[in-house]
Amino acid sequence: CGIVAVLGNQPAEPVILAALRRLEYRGYDSSGIATLENSVIDRRRAAGKLDNLASILEQHPLSGHVGIGHTRWATHGAPTENNAHPHATQQVAVVHNGIIENYETLRQELVNLGQDFNSETDSEVIVQLVDYYLKQGKAPKEAAFAALQRLEGAYAIAMIFAGDDNIMIGARHGAPLVVGYGEDEMYLGSDSLAVAPMTRKIAYMPDGVWTVLSRKGAEFFDMDGNTVECQVQTTALMAGAIGKDGYRHYMEKELHEHPVVIGQTLRRFVNPVTHKIELPEMPFDMATLKRGIITACGSAFYAGVIGRYWLEEYARLPIDLDVASEMRYRNPPFEAGGMGLLVSQSGETADTLAALRALKQEKQKIISVLNNEHSSMARESDLVLGMDAGVEIAVASTKAFTAQLTVLACLTLVMAQARRTISSERADECLTALLDLPSRVAEILQMQEQIQAMAQIISKVQSVIYLGRGIMFPVAMEGALKLKEISYIHADAYAAGEMKHGPIALIDNTVPVISLLPSGPLFEKTLSNLQEAKARGGRILVFTDAKGAERVKSIAEQIVVLPTVHSFVTPPLYTVPVQMLAYEAALLKGTDVDQPRNLAKSVTVE
Ligand code: G6P
Repeated sequence: CGIVAVLGNQPAEPVILAALRRLEYRGYDSSGIATLENSVIDRRRAAGKLDNLASILEQHPLSGHVGIGHTRWATHGAPTENNAHPHATQQVAVVHNGIIENYETLRQELVNLGQDFNSETDSEVIVQLVDYYLKQGKAPKEAAFAALQRLEGAYAIAMIFAGDDNIMIGARHGAPLVVGYGEDEMYLGSDSLAVAPMTRKIAYMPDGVWTVLSRKGAEFFDMDGNTVECQVQTTALMAGAIGKDGYRHYMEKELHEHPVVIGQTLRRFVNPVTHKIELPEMPFDMATLKRGIITACGSAFYAGVIGRYWLEEYARLPIDLDVASEMRYRNPPFEAGGMGLLVSQSGETADTLAALRALKQEKQKIISVLNNEHSSMARESDLVLGMDAGVEIAVASTKAFTAQLTVLACLTLVMAQARRTISSERADECLTALLDLPSRVAEILQMQEQIQAMAQIISKVQSVIYLGRGIMFPVAMEGALKLKEISYIHADAYAAGEMKHGPIALIDNTVPVISLLPSGPLFEKTLSNLQEAKARGGRILVFTDAKGAERVKSIAEQIVVLPTVHSFVTPPLYTVPVQMLAYEAALLKGTDVDQPRNLAKSVTVE
C-alpha cells in the first residue's frame, strides 16, 4: 500500500491526491484521504482505482492543510469503501501499510472496552486503540506511543489528530516510511517517490522507530521511548522522471527504455579505458568462496535463476536457489561466510527482506542487486550492486529485469575471472557481447509487427505453454509470468525436456507452445520436443535466430527471427520479445496493462 501525509501551509488535498497517483503502483484497489478542517477530521474514500476517489473529491472537496492519504492493496477485508483507509474516529485518523498480526485479540479487547468498529480490516485496531487512549486522557503523542507498544506485526503508519493541527505521528516497523522536510512543512511517505516533488530532503526512518512531526521538524524515538537520531539526506529522485512521454502505457515506455537502461548499467561497471568490469570490493574472497544462495520474488526471482545458471557455468560456483517466501522454511544448512545474493527492483518486498534477515542470521554475506539504493534491503546488505533502470512504474517489471540481468552478468564475469574459471579470451567475448546488447535489443524493439502477429494467435486462446531448455528455461518462466500478469491468459513454463513427463497431456490445437530456441548445443533436443508437441496437434510458435529459423520452419506456425548473439547474452535478449508479446496480447485483450487486477508492484507484506 502507499502512504502520504502532509503537515503543511497549503491546501493538503491536491498535494496528497497527486502523491497518491505516484503511489498507485503500490496498490490500487481502494483509496482515501482524510484532512483536518478547522481541527475536525473529514475524509473521503472510494473502492477501486484512484480516479474514483478523484471524482468524489471533485464533487466534495476536502479543505485543510493537514492530511493523510492511502492507496490500498487489500490483505484483510475486501477492497470496499468501508475497508479503505484512512480509518478514523472523531479524534484520530490513521493510514497503515502492513499487517497487524495480533489484531483479533486487540479487537476483542477494544470491543469489550466499548470501542465501536466500522470495518473488517486489521488496520482499524490501530485507530481504535489510539482513540481509546485519547479517551483515557492521554495527549496524542502519549496515546500513539501506548498504542504502538501494543502492536505486533509489520507496519508503516501515519496519523493525525482532531483538535491539534501541529502534530502528525509516523511509525515504522517492518514496512518502510520516510520523513520529508519542507519549508515550514513536513511530510511522511511510504517511499521517497511519495514526497519527491515536495522536497528532496528526506530521512529514511530506521526500523522500529516512530516520529512526532511539527511544522518545524521531526523528533524520533525508539519503542522504549528513547530519542534516536535520524540522518537527513538529499535525494536525487526527480518527480519529472515519471511521465509516460507520449507512450500509451508506462509498460510500453519502459520496454523502450531497455537499451538505455542496459547501457547505463554497463557504464556504471565497465571501465571505458581498460575495458574491464570493475565492481566494488566483495564482502568475501571470490576466489575461495564455496557456495552461494540466490533468493528473490516474482520476476526478480527469474533473474536470479538466470544468475544461477551463469554463476555455475562460468564461475563454477555452486548456487542454491529458492523463492524468498520459501527459502526460510526449508531451513537449509549454511556454512558461515557464504554469499547470500538477493535480487529486487524495489528493495522493499517483505518476503525478500525477511529472507535477507534470515540469511544474515546464518552469517551469510549479503549482496543485493537493487534498483532502489535507498531501500530497506540496501540498508541491511553488506554490498549493494545498483542498476540504473530509473523509476519503474508499470506493475509488470521490464527494464528492471534486464538491468538485473546486466548486473548479474557483470558479477558472473568478475567472479569467473577471480576464480580462474574462464579464459581471458572467453571473458572478452562475453563482455563484448554484453556491450553490444543495447544495439541488439534496439533491433528487437522494431519487431513489433511480427510480435503482434504472434499476439493475435495467443490472445484467442485460454492457455499457453512456454518451453525453454537450459538457461532459456528461466526466460520461459519470465515469459509465462508476464503473460499471466497482464493479459490474464494462463501460461505455464516447462523445461523443454520435462514436457513429455506430464504437460504433453494438455497439448492440442487450443494450447499453443511458445519456444525460446536460440541455435547452439541445446537446439536439437529442444527441436525434438517441439516435434513431439507438433505430432499431437500442437501449434508451434518460436523465437529463434536466423540459423534456427531454417531448421524449425517446417513445423512452426510462426517464427520471430531475433538477432544472432553470443550465447552468454541470450537470456536478456530473448526476454525482451517475450515481454513485448505479453504487452501486445494484453492490448488485444483490452486489460489494464499498467495496473493489472489483484497485483501490486511492491508487496510489503509476507
Ligand atoms: C510483486 C510484483 C512483481 C515483482 C515482485 C518482486 O509481486 O507484482 O512484478 O516481480 O513483486 O518485486 P521486487 O521489487 O522485489 O523486485
